[in-house]
Amino acid sequence: MNRQEIDTLVKQMNVDTATGAVDTRVQQVVVRLLADLFQAIEDLDISQSELWKGLEYFTDAGQANELGLLAAGLGLEHYLDLRADEADAKAGITGGTPRTIEGPLYVAGAPESVGFSRMDDGSESDKIDTLFIEGTVTDTDGNLIPNAKVEIWHANSLGNYSFFDKSQSDFNLRRSILTDSNGQYVAQTTMPVGYGCPPQGTTQFVLNKLGRHGNRPSHVHYFVSAPGYRKLTTQFNIEGDQYLWDDFAFATRDGLVATAIDISDEAEIARRGLNKPFKRISFNVALVKEQSKAPSTEVDRRRASA
Ligand SMILES: [Fe+2]
Repeated sequence: MNRQEIDTLVKQMNVDTATGAVDTRVQQVVVRLLADLFQAIEDLDISQSELWKGLEYFTDAGQANELGLLAAGLGLEHYLDLRADEADAKAGITGGTPRTIEGPLYVAGAPESVGFSRMDDGSESDKIDTLFIEGTVTDTDGNLIPNAKVEIWHANSLGNYSFFDKSQSDFNLRRSILTDSNGQYVAQTTMPVGYGCPPQGTTQFVLNKLGRHGNRPSHVHYFVSAPGYRKLTTQFNIEGDQYLWDDFAFATRDGLVATAIDISDEAEIARRGLNKPFKRISFNVALVKEQSKAPSTEVDRRRASA
């Protein structure tokens, strides 16, 4: 069938048959996606069995709650970042800390504090290095922003996230820190280890078919927000990880690579209340002022909350 026949057929089945109220945006999207799918079936000569395998795959991926992970793994989420960057550029928005993907593992409702928070529950502090993350939140001119909300979440030493990993305590490695009067925040936590897709999961299943791995470098996620500024969704990825520039989710970007510095100075160790060397990462965030004409940086998606 040619495209015109396909378009006519899709319209007959989904537009001409409407007898009730129509959500025109949904109709527009459904009609376009179906026509593109039918066209792909034509072009690739997709068999009936292949089509049903595809639908069964989405059923399985949905039941496993892995569609968010799949969106990251196939580059859809990074593509949306690139699109948002382009929209910002068109709106004349430049500067500020780069955005990068949220991923599917944020949980709302983490404990909130001002200036400082200890993020880990202590269960791994004997096994892995303590990490201090320190930084400021400023505007793009370097003016400090007190009371900015810095939401941070990351994985444990096994690459797993609390809430989704029920062996961890509630909100382990998840905190909201409001910057202090100097626009600073400090988080005491443990060194994260890079995430890997569940090996038997639906996302890894497709990645295997594509000959791809499902690993991310060690990283820490951020939402940063303050009244009058555009909300930032970002992460830093930690230098030295073998997957730093080989991230299955394509989230590593210039400006978002952080170096963990080893601190072994006895006085500094004592000042932090520790008894062994630790690591320190500096990650400063610059927010862009809100602009009425710019596309919103708030993304409406289903998120876990606890
Ligand atoms: Fe992550």
